This record gives sequence, structure tokens and C-alpha cells, in this order.
Amino acid sequence: MANEKQFKLKTVFVGTRGVREYRESIAAWVTRDDVVLEIGCEKGTTTAIIARHCKEVLGTDVSLECVQRARRIYPHIEFAVLDAYDVLNAVAFKKAFTKVYIDVSGLSGYRSLLDLIALLNMYATVLEPKAIIVKSGALKHFAEHCRAWHSVPVAHTPAEGDVDAQSPVSNL
Ligand SMILES: C[S@@+](CC[C@H](N)C(=O)[O-])C[C@H]1O[C@@H](n2cnc3c(N)ncnc32)[C@H](O)[C@@H]1O
Repeated sequence: MANEKQFKLKTVFVGTRGVREYRESIAAWVTRDDVVLEIGCEKGTTTAIIARHCKEVLGTDVSLECVQRARRIYPHIEFAVLDAYDVLNAVAFKKAFTKVYIDVSGLSGYRSLLDLIALLNMYATVLEPKAIIVKSGALKHFAEHCRAWHSVPVAHTPAEGDVDAQSPVSNL
């Protein structure tokens, strides 16, 4: 039996290809009420754009050097060290993040798609943001080729001995 909790996530995952689309998505996805976490902020350029659209933003990077540089360039914005894979450290910021932006080197291609999906599910489960926007051409391409199947309810009265009609239907 599959873990039902994983099917109850409400977080929307948005795949963007390249930095232009990643930044372009901000106007569409970030609103005045949002508390945003950016993972992989480097110099803080995107974090600063996000800051113009939301209530609060925290830019993070695994590299202390990047964080220190971002703080020098944008002293009015909060930056911190965070390894994307250490989700418990993200929880330790004690902020109710409503949107998460992810742009981590090495996570945008097809080879790392499984790792990326695991990471997205982890953040969706633990932080429960409304949306996670990620710079990944592979996720965008994959998502464009996915469809969710929905069964059409059939008005059907099972006849006696109708085995198919009595057998349980899997939700998977
Ligand atoms: C392409 S740059 C980010 C550019 C930035 N988002 C922007 O729009 O200007 C990728 C960043 O990911 C960071 N990074 C790599 N591995 C990481 C990890 N495991 N956790 C967090 N950041 C990571 C790198 O240090 C680098 O600064």
C-alpha cells in the first residue's frame, strides 16, 4: 500500500528553463503576502527581484562566500547559508514560507531529475509552501509531457457474478 500522505500535497511545482524564465516567473507567482525562500541565491540578483514583489524574502546558498557577497551587494536583504539537501536547517529559520525558489547548480538536467523530484517532495512535505518554482529545463519538459489520468464515473449496476464490477479499483 503506497503512503497516502504523498498524494495529499497541495504544493504546485513550476519548472522554468534558464535564468530569464526563472526571473520572469516572479511577477506571476510572487505576491505582496508571500514569504519567499530562495535556495541557490549566488550574488542575490534574483533574491533582490523577488524582494520587490513580496512581504519578506530570505536568500540562501551553500557557499558562505556567495552569501557574504550577496550581503555586501544587497545589505537591506536577508541572506543565510543553507545546503539545499538539509531541509531541517530550512525549518530552523522558523519562517512560514509560502513560496520557494530553487536554482541550485547541477539540478537542471535530466540526469538529476529524480534527485530534484525527491527534493521538491521533501520541501513540499516539510514547509508546505503554495508553490515551488525551480530552474530546471528537464522538469519543465517532463511536466509538459505529463497528464494526470482521472477515471470517468460509470453509471453501472453490477449484475450478480459480475467479477469486474466487484473488484476494488486501485487509486494508483
Ligand atoms: C546558478 S547559481 C544561482 C544564481 C541565482 N539564483 C541567480 O538567479 O542569480 C547556482 C548556485 O547554487 C549554489 N548551490 C550549489 N549547490 C547547492 C546546494 N546543495 N545548496 C544550496 N545552494 C547550492 C551555488 O553555490 C550557486 O551559487
